[in-house]
Amino acid sequence: MSELSISNSRGPDNFDSIYSPGEAVRSGFSTPASSARYSFEPHPMIGDAWEALRRSLVFFRDQPVGTIAAYDHAAEEVLNYDQVFVRDFVPSALAFLMNGEPDIVKNFLMKTLYLQGWEKRVDRFQLGEGAMPASFKVLHDPVRKMDTLIADFGESAIGRVAPVDSGFWWIILLRAYTKSTGDLSLAETPECQKGMRLILTLCLSEGFDTFPTLLCADGCSMIDRRMGIYGYPIEIQALFFMALRSALPLLKHDAEGKEFVERIVKRLHALSFHMRSYFWLDFQQLNDIYRYKTEEYSHTAVNKFNVIPDSIPDWVFDFMPTRGGYFIGNISPARMDFRWFALGNCQSMAIMDLIESRWEELVGEMPLKITYPAIEGHEWRIVTGCDPKNTRWSYHNGGSWPVLLWTLTAACIKTGRPQIARRAIELIENRLQKDGWPEYYDGKLGRYVGKQARKFQTWSIAGYLVAKMLLEDPSHLGMISLEEDKAMKPLIKRSTSWTCSMNRD
Ligand code: GLC
Repeated sequence: MSELSISNSRGPDNFDSIYSPGEAVRSGFSTPASSARYSFEPHPMIGDAWEALRRSLVFFRDQPVGTIAAYDHAAEEVLNYDQVFVRDFVPSALAFLMNGEPDIVKNFLMKTLYLQGWEKRVDRFQLGEGAMPASFKVLHDPVRKMDTLIADFGESAIGRVAPVDSGFWWIILLRAYTKSTGDLSLAETPECQKGMRLILTLCLSEGFDTFPTLLCADGCSMIDRRMGIYGYPIEIQALFFMALRSALPLLKHDAEGKEFVERIVKRLHALSFHMRSYFWLDFQQLNDIYRYKTEEYSHTAVNKFNVIPDSIPDWVFDFMPTRGGYFIGNISPARMDFRWFALGNCQSMAIMDLIESRWEELVGEMPLKITYPAIEGHEWRIVTGCDPKNTRWSYHNGGSWPVLLWTLTAACIKTGRPQIARRAIELIENRLQKDGWPEYYDGKLGRYVGKQARKFQTWSIAGYLVAKMLLEDPSHLGMISLEEDKAMKPLIKRSTSWTCSMNRD
């Protein structure tokens, strides 16, 4: 975020930097382009991963519309893992786009847009019009030869959590589709324009907020159960920022669109200032907070949120390297959540420095820790409500999630550090296929297949494929990185680590 500036220009110019028309037609439906186009031998896992990814496809009236969360027939309970989750589909979508198969992504975008139009209720309460589902399912009636859809906006979800991230991922994916295919016509349809405006209405509305960040309930994102992320969780703020940036070039400058563009530009300025000023933590900032005075009143206050230095947890003093830094988990009055969260922290040079110097803690034997460190004992009881799935170093509480490999790889390429991604991919290639593509790993080092981890978890599979394709052809990064990242090119060329690792292969 700290590297990003804001522009509100739109039109085809914004899409021509990385889009290459040849990509969209370069492969047949069943041939993974990533393994065919290069002279070196592809890793044997790639073929298996593509097969597993295709097995997870979900069809609606013979059209592929998404991928199920997990294809694990051995699991005792299916729960909702047989549904298409919006967030889980993102790495699948990127894999298909990178492989020149955009149709499934288009179908998915249209289906979820249609679901957005449904009336959404939890008991007697009606949700905002723009809310996107967490997941949906296609019901096949073999007798009547009919396919119907059901969707979950939080009203069936465990804990009745609303997916704040779904709408953001939808906009981000619409931009990825547009950039990858060069086809602006989908985004320009009145339906897509309206869908975007409805999502934006939800998150740009004015209320009692004193901060430009988005106030959320616990369990509103990838961490979809109580984990003490209520307030202003970093994952949502990062997705919020990215969705606003993605919407800018996609919104038409007609009467309705223009108003949103103006609101977005204002919000982005405030949001990036807030994030950089208050969420960023490095050695210097930690030292400043440690020395904070409290009970300051008025505009001159340095400790604006009245954070009490005694509330800084011991671990963070040892964890903080002299070089590097990260965005903390949350900040609100007298509360700083110093935990490190992977989502929202895959972006800048300084974060890459942190990941390198805290490799054992954040990567260990399986990339990547969803959050660090784990909470335990009394804190675990209070924060999670005694959640037996989120015990220390398991699941969302310090577990390691292979899906996060793709975001790490993207950040590595963006910052010119592909050797970090290579190290992480090597770890994945040692274990993931052998272990049956689990959802997450447990333990301080991420050594053990997670207690209740599903096997053949689709986003673990797709995340691996996306990471491989990104490394093989870094131009794919354009789908998910922002415009200024044109500056990325010379950066990659200049980086000695990039040249070294390329030579090693
Ligand atoms: C778990 C994850 C959530 C994911 C879902 C389906 O609930 O926490 O992020 O979407 O499984 O895979």
